Amino acid sequence: MTRIVYVNGDYVPEDQAKVSVFDRGFLFADGVYEVTSVLEGKLLDFAGHARRLERSLSELDMAAPVTMDELLEIHRELVVRNDLQEGMIYLQVTRGADADRDFAFPDPDKVPSSLVLFTQAKSIADSPAAKTGLKVISIEDQRWARRDIKTVQLLYPSMGKMMAKAAGCDDAWMIEDGHVTEGTSNNAYIVKDGKIITRHLSNDILHGITRAAVLRFAKEAQMVVEERAFTIDEAKDADEAFITSASTFVMPVVEIDGAPLGDGTPGRVAARLREIYLDESRKTAV
Ligand code: PDD
Repeated sequence: MTRIVYVNGDYVPEDQAKVSVFDRGFLFADGVYEVTSVLEGKLLDFAGHARRLERSLSELDMAAPVTMDELLEIHRELVVRNDLQEGMIYLQVTRGADADRDFAFPDPDKVPSSLVLFTQAKSIADSPAAKTGLKVISIEDQRWARRDIKTVQLLYPSMGKMMAKAAGCDDAWMIEDGHVTEGTSNNAYIVKDGKIITRHLSNDILHGITRAAVLRFAKEAQMVVEERAFTIDEAKDADEAFITSASTFVMPVVEIDGAPLGDGTPGRVAARLREIYLDESRKTAV
């Protein structure tokens, strides 16, 4: 089955989907994105992703190419046309294609922003990694200072992933001033004495949609949550650790820089939160 993708108003087979070489996403990484997960053909937390997209666009003075209601329709149409049961929908908005390469933003009335969406079929609820856990390394955080905006400039996170791979690990946690900011494409958590600790929201990290949901569920389940920066040494000494993102939900971390956490197997808090997240998200999926 050929994948059908959405490009600026059209649903086309993936090999016919094209954007201009002058697209500012291509030339300047002048674009933002969202990844929304799909379970049983339904979208998880679409409203949260739409709200964050609006914020990313507004922080960069970029026009929304369609309304959020239209965006939901496009997501649904892609699910149907690709018969997507489980996986993700990737969405990207860029500041469009100007007539030439120019650092200055084009006039939005003359150059409309560009919109691309595609599906990625993947088994995420039943991921084997949830049973074994991830191994992470720590690396310096060398990204720009506005990590709260979900831009498509992902070169450093890609390099971080490659550094992790080279070390025989799954991912990298990024460190700034001795404190963990987040994973290459996920938010980072540790658990110590039953307390869930994760970095507070600021421009230093992406405000994860999964993070917001998981912290809400944790509090509803009477778990203690502390939103503050934690050091990498604190992380290595934690009872357990985990990450969250739309493409992994809640995923245990069992090793940091070669040091096993607890007994080196996925922790109970992470397993419980993964279960609650899956149950609750299924109920509100659209
Ligand atoms: N990444 N932090 C970073 C740097 C991220 O790139 C992501 C998401 C998150 C988690 O956000 P959310 O819970 O809203 O997915 C945190 C997506 C999944 C990606 O780049 O594929």
